[in-house]
Amino acid sequence: MSPDYQLYFSRLCQGLYKQREFWQANAFREPNLSWQAENQALSTALLSLDEEGLAQLENDVASLAKYLSPYISDLDELLSIAGYIETCPAKLPELANEMRFFPSHIPGRKWQQIRYFHQAAPAKAERLVDWCCGKGHLGRFLALTESCQVLGLEWDQSLVDAGNELANSLTAGELSIVPCDVLDAAAGEWLAAGDHIFALHACGDLHRRMLQLAGQQQLAAVSFAPCCYQKISADQHSFLSSAAEKTELALRRQDLHTIVQETVTAPKAVQNKRILLQQWRLGFDALQRDIRGIDAYFSTPSLPQSSLQLGFEGFCRLLADKRQLLLPAEVDWKHYQALGLKRFNDARRLDLARLVFRRSLELAVVLDQLLYLQDNGFAVELLQFCPKHLSPRNLLINAWRD
Ligand SMILES: C[S@@+](CC[C@H](N)C(=O)[O-])C[C@H]1O[C@@H](n2cnc3c(N)ncnc32)[C@H](O)[C@@H]1O
Repeated sequence: MSPDYQLYFSRLCQGLYKQREFWQANAFREPNLSWQAENQALSTALLSLDEEGLAQLENDVASLAKYLSPYISDLDELLSIAGYIETCPAKLPELANEMRFFPSHIPGRKWQQIRYFHQAAPAKAERLVDWCCGKGHLGRFLALTESCQVLGLEWDQSLVDAGNELANSLTAGELSIVPCDVLDAAAGEWLAAGDHIFALHACGDLHRRMLQLAGQQQLAAVSFAPCCYQKISADQHSFLSSAAEKTELALRRQDLHTIVQETVTAPKAVQNKRILLQQWRLGFDALQRDIRGIDAYFSTPSLPQSSLQLGFEGFCRLLADKRQLLLPAEVDWKHYQALGLKRFNDARRLDLARLVFRRSLELAVVLDQLLYLQDNGFAVELLQFCPKHLSPRNLLINAWRD
């Protein structure tokens, strides 16, 4: 029996709408979150987490869900929907002997993603299109394995040239990459009725554009793994499917950003610098609230890690200068630096109540896209195409005309 995607979507919308106070509140922007007053037990529990407990919850989604479920009603039910999404086989088929040199130009994790993507998305047309293809690694692999014609669309001329150069070595199939801005009104002219579009990790507006064209043109199929949902020109997310017409759920661009927020896995030295930057920004935030006499977030441009050389005072002076904020002659810099550190430690803990909703928010966005394709006459399926350690953006929609 095929999964009831519409039911999953409506449950997600209801659950997320009900619990919106938790995922809309960003502890790195606001020192006091609206949910804290009514959820004091949760607030106290999070704020008293020691470093070890905090690190474990930050790095393990299942532990985080278990920890938070006694405090947030219906959380278990909401999170259980992710468990209904089919997972592709963890093992890849053996690679044919003649293919052993194929991945030499492809970064390791990208190569694995391509292989999993290919395993999960069977080609359903004579001509395939690699949407926002970069150097066309996916397209080249498809051309070779399917012995077919592939068109790559990419706007960066240097990637187009490098990709076409690599495609010259193909011993079967054909890949031709053309320079094309897929957001341009004329982009649809590159597509032909009966094409199957593949899009691996095309960001926000880029995959939304593909969906729009899929709704307008007689394509045979689309297979895509969305990423960077927040990369959209609009401030507000717009749902696409008819099922979404009934929902009260509304997502801002910053909520889309929440979806892709991962625990940082950079080297320790880089991580420490990032942490210090965040602490100083929060120290500046405390200072600006006092100076302006307005207890509200004040957006400031991001500064590079090299700005740490300025020291906390110099860093704050630079930010104040950038936002034309006049600083008083006397500032207790030590006080604000200490406040920044305290706010950072609290924010990391309180933010867990937002981060636990990441996958649910992602599924709401992706299921709406799937239902939109269904509205437009496609048969659809949603899969997790690769293990999370290869890419956290591992959801894949296959849509085809029966
Ligand atoms: C995240 S990369 C994915 C590349 C490739 N699909 C992969 O998985 O390796 C997104 C690609 O989209 C391209 N791109 C960005 N904006 C574009 C646009 N408006 N039209 C066409 N390509 C675009 C970028 O240059 C980049 O190669």
